[in-house]
Amino acid sequence: MIDVKDLSVAFGQGEARKQVVKSVSLSVAKGETLGIVGESGCGKSTVLRSLAGLDRHWEGEIKLAGTAVAKTRTREQLLLAQMVFQDPYSSIHPRHRIERVLVEPMQSMKRGDGWDKVGPALEQVGLPAAFAERFPHELSGGQRQRVAIARALMLEPEVLLLDEPTSALDVSVQAEVLNLLSDLREQRNLTYVLVSHDLAVIGHMCDRVLVMKDGSFVDELTRDDLKHGRTHSDYARELFAASYL
Ligand SMILES: Nc1ncnc2c1ncn2[C@@H]1O[C@H](COP(=O)(O)OP(=O)(O)O)[C@@H](O)[C@H]1O
Ligand SMILES: [Mg+2]
Repeated sequence: MIDVKDLSVAFGQGEARKQVVKSVSLSVAKGETLGIVGESGCGKSTVLRSLAGLDRHWEGEIKLAGTAVAKTRTREQLLLAQMVFQDPYSSIHPRHRIERVLVEPMQSMKRGDGWDKVGPALEQVGLPAAFAERFPHELSGGQRQRVAIARALMLEPEVLLLDEPTSALDVSVQAEVLNLLSDLREQRNLTYVLVSHDLAVIGHMCDRVLVMKDGSFVDELTRDDLKHGRTHSDYARELFAASYL
């Protein structure tokens, strides 16, 4: 579903130029959840933004559903992979009713007006259809993140790019949102790339995880490795030792 070869991303010019992602490769099969774990600033979000088509600083090759994408994507290519961001407070327009939050991507991508899909989309993420009328400030953090997930799914993507999707939420609702994501993946045969600095989240969700450090992948762990705390690099070993998995 996703094939990436030698993806590099650099920001800035001349002296200020900074290589943030250093020739990384990855592939994700349909229906699989690939995790990317690593310390803050190592380049995780930059990889996701490149995959989503939100960042054009990348070099290398990105294939989605078998097709190599250019920096400027076709509408079909943009629809394929949708992003869910960490902070549902800043990713949802504060003065728009939830129904408008949900239909806007549909309309901007010329996928119909979307109004008839609002109720089912909310119910699918475990919210009452009546929430369509509400404003974001009337929802909890977990409910808002459910709205953000519903908004991404409105466009019927095959891939969800999840950037720390539960990091901004209370611990008590994190598991609920993760379980929702697992159920949705199963129901819709979705493919996930899940970025987190939290190894417990990664262990709960992922079939495979890439360990990222300073813009490179330094280790790859299977679900079995995760379960048994097996690592293949000093860095991953340190990361695990510092976590509570
Ligand atoms: N648009 C940008 N312009 C300049 N530097 C950026 C930009 N986006 C990210 N960076 C830098 O790239 C590095 C990696 O960022 P990021 O991918 O957000 O890391 P992570 O998600 O792993 O915390 C950071 O040093 C960050 O400051
Ligand atoms: Mg990030």
